Amino acid sequence: MDSECGSQRWAKLVATCLIGGVAVAVAVGVYLAAGGNVLSVMPLELLRRRKKNKKIRVYMDGCFDMMHYGHCNALRQARALGDQLVVGVVSDAEIIANKGPPVTPLHERMIMVNAVKWVDEVIPDAPYAITEDFMHKLFDEYNIDYIIHGDDPCVLPDGTDAYELAKKAGRYKQIKRTEGVSSTDIVGRMLLCTRDRSVSDNHNRSSLQRQFSHGHSHKFEDGGSGSATRVSHFLPTSRRIVQFSNGKGPGPDARIVYIDGAFDLFHAGHVEILRVARELGDFLLVGIHNDQTVSAKRGAHRPIMNLHERSLSVLACRYVDEVIIGAPWEISRDTITTFNISLVVHGTIAENNDFQKENGNPYSIPMSMGIFKVLESPLDITTTTIIKRIVSNNEAYQKRNEKKAATEKKYYEEKTFVSGD
Ligand SMILES: *[C@@H]1O[C@H](CO)[C@@H](O)[C@H](O)[C@H]1NC(C)=O
Ligand SMILES: *[C@@H]1O[C@H](CO)[C@@H](O)[C@H](O)[C@H]1NC(C)=O
Repeated sequence: MDSECGSQRWAKLVATCLIGGVAVAVAVGVYLAAGGNVLSVMPLELLRRRKKNKKIRVYMDGCFDMMHYGHCNALRQARALGDQLVVGVVSDAEIIANKGPPVTPLHERMIMVNAVKWVDEVIPDAPYAITEDFMHKLFDEYNIDYIIHGDDPCVLPDGTDAYELAKKAGRYKQIKRTEGVSSTDIVGRMLLCTRDRSVSDNHNRSSLQRQFSHGHSHKFEDGGSGSATRVSHFLPTSRRIVQFSNGKGPGPDARIVYIDGAFDLFHAGHVEILRVARELGDFLLVGIHNDQTVSAKRGAHRPIMNLHERSLSVLACRYVDEVIIGAPWEISRDTITTFNISLVVHGTIAENNDFQKENGNPYSIPMSMGIFKVLESPLDITTTTIIKRIVSNNEAYQKRNEKKAATEKKYYEEKTFVSGD
C-alpha cells in the first residue's frame, strides 16, 4: 500500500511546489503526514534527502518453533542491518509439509515473534521458501530492501537454496548463525535428561518421563551423530548480555513491578504474563531463579535451559526492562527496598501455584506488606505443556532430529571463523 504512495506522492509534491503559494503549505502538510520532517529545503533537495533518509526495511523469515535466544539474536542482527525489521512467520501447514509438525501453533509463534524487541512488523503465514511472487510482494507491498538469512544453509526438500531468488536479485544479506543453541539441541537435551532419569530407581515415574525413556534416546548416546546436540555449545559472554539489555534503569518516580520464575523454555504463556505485568507499572523487573533453585523445586531434569540462556530469552522480550540473573526464591524485604519494588506479581498459571501451602511461602513478605497480586494468566501454557507436546509427537521429532542432528554435526565440523556479531 505504502509503496504506491511513495513515488507518486512525491511527483505530486514536486508539481504542487512549483505552482507555489498555498499549495506549498498543502504539500508540506502531505509530506508531514507521510512522516517527513524537513521543512526549509527545496523540493528537489528534499527528494534527494528523502532517498538518503529512507528507512531501510529488512525481512527475515522463519518457523520460530520452540523459539529460543538464538532466534532472538538472529532477529537482533537482522534489525541491525536496517532500520525496520519485518518478520515472516511460516504457517503451520508449510512447516508440516517441509519438516514435520511444529510444537507451537502459529498463533503462539506470532505472540513470541511479536514480543521480540527488535521486531517492527510480523507477517503471518509466510511461505517456507520465498517464491518469486512472494519476493515481489515483499519488495512492492512491504517495501523490503533486503532479505536476511543466517549463514547456515537453508536447503529445500528438492535440494535447492531457499534464498537463491533473493541472492540473484542482489537483495540478500547474511548474518552469522548464533552458536550454541538450536531447537534440535533443545529437544536433544530433554531426551538426554530422560535417559538419565530412566536409570534411576524411581519406578513410579510420571507418564511424561516414562515416554521420554521409551528407548529412542539411546540414538543420541551412541552413533556420534548426536554429539552436536547433546551438550550446550553456548558460552555466555558479558557482551551478549549487553547486546540484549535495554541498558537503562527506571526513570524517576517509576512504578517498578517484579515477577519471578524459572522462565524455562520461554514460551507464549511467559510472554503474555509479562505483558500483563508490565501494564501494571512503568518498569518490569524479572527475577530469574538460578539453576540449582529450579532443580530443587522442579526436579533434577530441570531446567532445560541454563540460567544465562533463560536470561537472554527474557531480556529479548519487549515487555521486560531488566532481569536479575539468579534471583532468590524468597522475596526479602531487602530485595524490595534495593530495587524499590512497588508490586510483586505471580500468574495463575504457573508450576508453583501451591506456594501458599508451602512452609516458607516465597511471597510472604510482599503479601504482608500488601504489595502482592495474583494475575490472571492469559494463556494456559507452562513449561510442562511444551515438554508434553514434544513428547506427544516424539516419533516425528525423532526422525526430524536424526536428520537435523547430522546436518548440524556437519556444520560444526566444517565451521570456520566468521567475523561479525
Ligand atoms: C505413584 O503414582 C501414583 C499415580 O500415578 C500416585 O497415586 C502414587 O502416590 C505414586 N506413588 C509414589 C510412591 O510416589
Ligand atoms: C520508588 O517508587 C515509587 C513509586 O512506587 C516512586 O514514587 C519513588 O520515587 C521511587 N523512589 C526512588 C528513590 O526512585
